Formats: sequence, C-alpha cells, structure tokens
Amino acid sequence: MYARLGPNAIVTRVWHELLRPEHKVGAPRQFWIGIPTCYHFGRGDGDLSEPTNVEYPGGDQAGAEFWEDWWQRTRLPLPPALDPQRPGLKNYEVRRFHQAFEQLFKGYDTSSMELVEVGCAQSVYLPYFAKNYGFKVAGIDRSETGCGRARKILEREGIKGEIYCADFFAIPPELVGRFDVVISFGVIEHFKRTAEALRAMAKLLKPGGRMFDDIPNFTGVLGRYQKLLDRHMYEAHVPLSREKLAAAHREAGLEIEVCDYFMPVCLEVINVERWPRNLLYWFTIRSHTAISRAVWFVDDHFVRLPQNRWTSPFIYCVSRKPLHQA
Ligand SMILES: C[S@@+](CC[C@H](N)C(=O)[O-])C[C@H]1O[C@@H](n2cnc3c(N)ncnc32)[C@H](O)[C@@H]1O
Repeated sequence: MYARLGPNAIVTRVWHELLRPEHKVGAPRQFWIGIPTCYHFGRGDGDLSEPTNVEYPGGDQAGAEFWEDWWQRTRLPLPPALDPQRPGLKNYEVRRFHQAFEQLFKGYDTSSMELVEVGCAQSVYLPYFAKNYGFKVAGIDRSETGCGRARKILEREGIKGEIYCADFFAIPPELVGRFDVVISFGVIEHFKRTAEALRAMAKLLKPGGRMFDDIPNFTGVLGRYQKLLDRHMYEAHVPLSREKLAAAHREAGLEIEVCDYFMPVCLEVINVERWPRNLLYWFTIRSHTAISRAVWFVDDHFVRLPQNRWTSPFIYCVSRKPLHQA
C-alpha cells in the first residue's frame, strides 16, 4: 500500500495512523473498546478523588463517589458509537473485538435476545450491540451522570434502550433473571472479592444465559508500568491473571466457555488522566499511541503476535449460567 505513495503522503499517513490521537485537546479520546472509555477522559486537573477505603459490597476498590466524580469531570462531547467497519489502525482494536463477538454470537438468533451492560456509564457499546446484532439493550450503572450520558448516546444513535441508575448488588427486581447476555468492560477488576461481584452480576442472567466480561491485564508489564506512572490508579484495581479470573467465575457458579488474554499490546490501557496537562502528559499519551499502533500494524499486516500474560492489555472471559441455576 505504501509503495504507491510519495514521501509527503507517507509522512501524512504515518502521522494520521500512528501518532495523531483521535481527539483534539478538550475533546474525548475514543481509541478502543477493550478498556473502559472512561480511562481516556477526565479534565486533567490532577485532583480527581482518590479511591476510597470505605468497604463496599464485593470489596469495591474505587467506590461510588470516585465514579460519579469521574463522570462529572469527563469532558463533552460524547464519544462516537463503535463502528467495526471503520478502517485504519485507530480502529484496529474495535475490529479485533468485533471479530471476537462475531465468533461468540455465531449461530445464535441475537435479534430475539436481551443484553444488559453492567457499568454502562457513557456506553459506546450498547448502540454497537443493538445495531450489529439486533439485541434489545439495557444498561445498569450507579452513576447518575454516567447513566445520563448513556441515555444521550442511545438517543443520538436512534436506539431504544433502558438505562437503570442502580447498584448491581441491589438489582431492581424486574431485571433479575431477565437477560440472555450480560456484558461488562472494566468493572469487576475494581472488586477485591471478584466472585461476589460476578455472582451479583449473574443474577441478571436467565438460566443458560451468557456473560462476557473484559478487564485490563495488570499482572504483567503493564501493571508494573501503571504503578510507576500513577500508583493510586493502579490501586483502584485488583490485578487478576487469566487463571484467577476463571477461578472467580467458577466460584460464582458460572461455567467457563473461554477465558484468555486478548491482543498482544495496547499501552493505551495505562491511565495518566490524573496528571496535569503538561508536555510530559502529552508526550506520554502520544508515545503510548504510537507504540501501540506500530505493534498493531505488524499484527494486522504481517504476523499475529502472541497474546500472553506479560504484554497483553486485556483478559476476557465468556461464561454461562448453568440451566439448573435460577
Ligand atoms: C470503568 S467504568 C466502565 C464504564 C464504561 N463501561 C466504559 O467502558 O466506559 C466502571 C463503571 O462501573 C460502575 N459501577 C461500579 N460499581 C458499580 C455498582 N456496584 N453498581 C453499578 N455500577 C457500578 C461505575 O459507576 C463506572 O461507571
């Protein structure tokens, strides 16, 4: 592809593909979906409330105030919905996740199914699942601000969906046992007692229903790097290996279909949003973007790089609620 381009066009292409973040200063970034979009927003005042030590159900490491504060500080405009058809490295991660979801729902009549996202604040996923698979969608989150944004995104995309502002440890009775699919991105790693959090989420599932959850992999190099760059952010997470994540699902009474590391590298899971917006901040996020996209270029065009405990940014798990379980 590059052989046909002149030097100027190549420089422009490299700038756009590798270095230019998807946002301008003051607008949200929306690089990828594996990690919550919230990781990339924030006002950068550097004074975001720190994870609380108060004991919440499941041993929540972050706490309700932390998230409400986070969403209130998150800049508008709202992020665009995910579009797996968009080409380019910027959208590589979305396309990789889309491939995984295509596998997951192959052979299922998803147009007659209901899906709920736990931790749905400002969700860019709900329109994706409604548009691409025909799911009837709903979301649950306890941040009022985050729920308001999820509703606005659905409205903007012309999707009907129900957003419940509630704690998933106290699910509204009409939601119990109602859903065919539960999804969550970047939620359960905030709970010290992982199985307790998963058990609470699984109450939303019908018997035989499936759960997809995705967390950052902080057991390898990225965890150490996150700790170095912002220890408080690191401490809002419980680092879980693939084995520990799978074990927590089993403890919660779920049957594992697949639990694995995902993608070879993505430095964009590293969160420096509490840093002041200075040269170091911009240099750090731009170099994270450039390194990630360079690796994705190789992964996309030459050879599929290994997904592994040390460098993979995500761990995902697909599990099922046994048919006999109410
Ligand atoms: C990391 S964010 C994920 C947001 C969104 N899924 C995304 O990817 O941008 C975690 C979300 O989980 C929500 N959350 C955490 N604990 C919760 C609970 N017990 N009940 C409901 N929502 C909760 C928080 O309010 C927060 O919005």
